[in-house]
Amino acid sequence: MHDIPPQASNPSSRSLYSVRSALVTAGPTEEPIDAVRFLGNRSSGRLGLAIAKALADRGVPVTLLLGPIRVPVPADPRVTVLRFRTAAELEALLRRHLPQFDLVVMAAAVADYRPKKLAAGKLRRDAESLTIELEGVPDLLATTRELRKPGARVIGFALEPRERLESSAREKLERKDLTGIVANPLETMDADGIDGTLFLRDGRVRTPGGVIPKPDFARWLAAELTSEYSATAH
Ligand code: CTP
Repeated sequence: MHDIPPQASNPSSRSLYSVRSALVTAGPTEEPIDAVRFLGNRSSGRLGLAIAKALADRGVPVTLLLGPIRVPVPADPRVTVLRFRTAAELEALLRRHLPQFDLVVMAAAVADYRPKKLAAGKLRRDAESLTIELEGVPDLLATTRELRKPGARVIGFALEPRERLESSAREKLERKDLTGIVANPLETMDADGIDGTLFLRDGRVRTPGGVIPKPDFARWLAAELTSEYSATAH
């Protein structure tokens, strides 16, 4: 895709020029337990898909790292889709692709723990109870920090109970060294709407106001992230 030239008289065209390429991650991870079972989560991937489309609509070439989702993936020649299943596969994709992008939106719901061992074949029902040992998954946003393109804007998501939405989001913003973080309450997962707030590293707080449909939030967020002011947030 070709770069879109800046037009000083039109603010939206000017914002298009400031982000040349975006990497979006979306959907859950699935961590296998045995040949037929896995540990997953309820992320539908719809918000990440909508963010990829909204950025493409603003003229930004998008690469979408997409997990195992059940909703259809619309064919869109402006979006390059690469699939992952596990956090390790997502990590490998991030390590390969992250350095090229000047906007990264990490909307994937990545596992925090995975089974330590993959059981051979299918686990049988031959005991009263079963204990599966889990090991921690590295924080992908934090551990790939050194691979980021200098000056890249990196946006994370924080799914939190309402009562500690802001404090947890701000803590993750610092710990993961992000430009901004979208904090949203637990009810967002697998829902049609989102009540999201964007906390920027420089202290600014942005919100479209209340619960809105995910495609509308994605359009709002894409406009925020491609605007000139967000470039100064980190
Ligand atoms: N994330 C990540 N790697 C992980 C887990 C999460 O990169 N192993 C990213 C998510 O994609 C999201 C951000 O970190 O952009 C916050 O994810 P969240 O699950 O809210 O935070 P955690 O760091 O996992 O902390 P906790 O589960 O304790 O709230």
